[in-house]
Amino acid sequence: MQTITWDEAIMLLSPHSYTLLSTLAPDGRANLMGVGWWTIVSWAPPQLAISIGRAQFSRECLDAIPEFALCFPALSQARGAWLCGTVSGRDGDKFAMAGFTPRPSERIRPPLVDGATVSFECKVTNRLVTGDHVLYIADVLEVHGSPESPMHLYSIHYNKLVAIDKDLHHVDSPEDE
Ligand SMILES: Cc1cc2nc3c(=O)[nH]c(=O)nc-3n(C[C@H](O)[C@H](O)[C@H](O)COP(=O)(O)O)c2cc1C
Repeated sequence: MQTITWDEAIMLLSPHSYTLLSTLAPDGRANLMGVGWWTIVSWAPPQLAISIGRAQFSRECLDAIPEFALCFPALSQARGAWLCGTVSGRDGDKFAMAGFTPRPSERIRPPLVDGATVSFECKVTNRLVTGDHVLYIADVLEVHGSPESPMHLYSIHYNKLVAIDKDLHHVDSPEDE
């Protein structure tokens, strides 16, 4: 063991699960953002937490409409999923830019991403300001899945995505396909 930097530690801990946060902007348009900082925080009732940078457009969306979907993109969606983590919704419609089709949610206003492997519909119950992010804790109201598309995306540091399934089969750099 040796002393390493925070940055090196995060790289060493790769891959990190990668998901898409779907929110509604104050003007009612839907936005998508790539998220690595999410976690399950309660089994029963099911609850999740996401950590969103204070400057993100998605943070403004969540503070205006505290509901979100967390949609785990399929391998075939890697290119669009990466765009959602590198472009701001302030600069355009990321559903259109990423080539994703919105699908109505059942119990929240933000839409789901059609074709995602797993999607959670969530309602924010708590908000905590951290150093430079805001942590949102939410109840999971509905769960959707596509067992026929088992590969999920993981980020290596914040540089690229790989796909891994539950049996540890993996595919490198799907965003380059
Ligand atoms: C692999 C990866 C993981 C990311 N995870 C987060 C995260 O957990 N929280 C966050 O605030 N930003 C995260 N980002 C950055 C945002 O997705 C990015 O800044 C995005 O453009 C913000 O979009 P918005 O301005 O439309 O909200 C991540 C980006 C990548 C590439």
